Amino acid sequence: MSIHINAKPGEIAPIVLMPGDPLRAKYMAEKFLQNVKLVSSTRNVYYFTGTYKDKPVTIGASGMGCPSIGIYSYELFNEYNVDCIIRIGTCGAYSTNLKLFDLVNVDRAFSESTYAKYAFGFSGDHLYHEGTAYAAINETAQELNMTVQKGAIHSSDIFYRSIKGIPAMAAENDCVAVEMEAFALFANAKQLKKSAATLLTVSDVIPTQEQISADQREKSLLPMMELALESVVNL
Ligand code: HPA
Repeated sequence: MSIHINAKPGEIAPIVLMPGDPLRAKYMAEKFLQNVKLVSSTRNVYYFTGTYKDKPVTIGASGMGCPSIGIYSYELFNEYNVDCIIRIGTCGAYSTNLKLFDLVNVDRAFSESTYAKYAFGFSGDHLYHEGTAYAAINETAQELNMTVQKGAIHSSDIFYRSIKGIPAMAAENDCVAVEMEAFALFANAKQLKKSAATLLTVSDVIPTQEQISADQREKSLLPMMELALESVVNL
């Protein structure tokens, strides 16, 4: 048990898939995994462990924002000996080169967050994916004939802001999209010498204000879920 995860030792697999939403973790585990067991439900942040094509995998939620994913991913890496975490989430596209439902494999996350600086003394405004998971996602996408964009994203601390338009940090660094968690996940993986990737589905296009509807949301995330699970088999 860790402070925020009440799984017993050995109940978390070496590879964890991490959506933001606990109910998405539940949906995914019930839909795709065999021999599924709920291993943690502290604060209703669910973690399920099972197998996918005979490979053990845990699917559990990060919550929203760098502080929240910072806590869960740190405890998984540090106290449950997790080797690799793949975040699977949604993003808002800054670039109209991205369309709704497109997939983005994040190579770098830019952020105004102070998380990495004050947690570990890392300077600089961006961090990279860590380890082999990013490459495994790209290779698996090729095998499955799926298109995945690769690029830099903005891990913002802010969802609602008064000034519309693309924030300066994102514009200056060619960030194709915005989400709120990758930067802290990459910081923990770098500090603890672990593997971490972030795979995103475009749920809204900010310049045109297009959005995936509530009805479309569940189905629209299936390709990302399948790509992440198939990547786990290849890791
Ligand atoms: N901002 C931040 N995170 C997001 C967004 C957004 O517009 N869309 C999906 N995740």
